[in-house]
Amino acid sequence: MADFIEQLEQLSKFIAENLQSAPNATVEELVERLKADNRIIQINTGNALAFQTLVKEGGNAYPGIHLHDFDEEKLDKVLKAFWRSLQPAGISNNVPRSGVAKFIGREQELDRLHTQLQQGNLVAISAVSKPRTNSGRSSTSQQDDRSSISAVEGMGGVGKTELAIQYTQQYAYSYEGGICWLFTREFNVGTQVVSFAQSRLNLKIPEELELPDQVAFCWQNWREGHVLLVLDDVVNYSRDVEPYLPPSASARFKVLMTTRLKFGPPIQSISLDVLSPEQSLELLIVLIGEERIQQELEIAKTLCKWLEHLPLGIELVGRYLLKRTDLSLSTLLFRLQQKAEKRQAIKHDALQRDEATGTSTTKRGVEAAFELSWDDLDENSQHLGKLLSLFAPAPIPWHLAESVEQKYCENSDDGNEFDVEELEKARTKLLDLHLLQLSQQKEQIYRLHSLIREFFRSKLEGEPDVTTSGST
Ligand SMILES: Nc1ncnc2c1ncn2[C@@H]1O[C@H](COP(=O)(O)OP(=O)(O)OP(=O)(O)O)[C@@H](O)[C@H]1O
Ligand SMILES: [Mg+2]
Repeated sequence: MADFIEQLEQLSKFIAENLQSAPNATVEELVERLKADNRIIQINTGNALAFQTLVKEGGNAYPGIHLHDFDEEKLDKVLKAFWRSLQPAGISNNVPRSGVAKFIGREQELDRLHTQLQQGNLVAISAVSKPRTNSGRSSTSQQDDRSSISAVEGMGGVGKTELAIQYTQQYAYSYEGGICWLFTREFNVGTQVVSFAQSRLNLKIPEELELPDQVAFCWQNWREGHVLLVLDDVVNYSRDVEPYLPPSASARFKVLMTTRLKFGPPIQSISLDVLSPEQSLELLIVLIGEERIQQELEIAKTLCKWLEHLPLGIELVGRYLLKRTDLSLSTLLFRLQQKAEKRQAIKHDALQRDEATGTSTTKRGVEAAFELSWDDLDENSQHLGKLLSLFAPAPIPWHLAESVEQKYCENSDDGNEFDVEELEKARTKLLDLHLLQLSQQKEQIYRLHSLIREFFRSKLEGEPDVTTSGST
């Protein structure tokens, strides 16, 4: 390790020399300079311990830095952390505090997000103000336009907000102009922009202006440097966001949205999936400790699987178990399964948010989180959600769903007529809100996340099981 640190010091000095001798060089040019220099790090494989002296033209000797058995990923992390530690303090931001004890995984998503937001800098964002959502609210005529608007999409509780928080922490140094966090679901975006500019940037905004003009004034007079705007939890882009976006010509403003909706080009989307089985187990270990997990390792894995690796579910169950030291994991799993039989699993205390100990990022329990999406559904999509939840917890071929619905309509006393197009529209709505996933395009097979299935089932109180009474 001492060797490694010494070599890293040499490398840092070397990079610093280059930065000083070419202050105006771009990052790409600097990387080229580093690559062209013979002193650049060489990574040897196996146990090779070579240390060479390279003689360049003119007879100067340059000792090389040669590393062996080397963990490149670690170097990457160390350099990034080192770089972060050098960033100037006091970048204006109002980013909420992260509630995680340890942030698990998502390295690739963070890298991709950064690349996407930076790339947006290179292109005009003229068409950005009219993005196309899959629900077809608005459209753009220029398919190839790339924007500096990125969206992290995914189902409730999958970790979109947490990812955005982590991004702002890791890449704050890229945004000297500040990071402005906007709670899009709860409050008016324009009002929040104005109050950020007043309180964090000390802007004196003419009071006689209307709100949209005040916001425009803020963009015009914003502090120099790149600015990151995080629009957390966008539910209606054209209504809540679009009227207040910074001017499309000003590429220094980068916009990151988190949303349960699905967007299309020109907004660049990152789809966030649940954690891997290993990662969700790791999260549970972080929360309740290695010892307790080791005592019931297989049950812990089954519990994570039952929660289908949804970070919100793991987080809530972990915190519940932390308070209930008397409770074994197997008892909790058994109780959840028992409740599931009565279509009540989603209501179990282990999946609710505890007001007293819930962290800032865990705003809601699982049921309350899904309830927000439920409210956005029309009657047909709610009906389809309930219908799909009655299938066994396995991928569902669409033709089966269709035939069950048909039988349901035939047997219903309400005079419901089977309408395949309406049913498909309801399916699109569920897909758009990440409440349903397409599991296989070719065969038209769909799947429900286990907790969403439990949520829809809880809405079925008193309703008959149409999959058994109708289809078989
Ligand atoms: N990678 C992770 N590692 C550890 N904890 C995580 C991770 N991702 C999310 N969490 C935790 O899971 C919970 C849910 O995450 P988050 O609130 O970010 O979900 P979301 O996708 O924004 O949900 P919603 O759509 O309801 O806004 C939070 O308590 C968060 O701290
Ligand atoms: Mg969120």
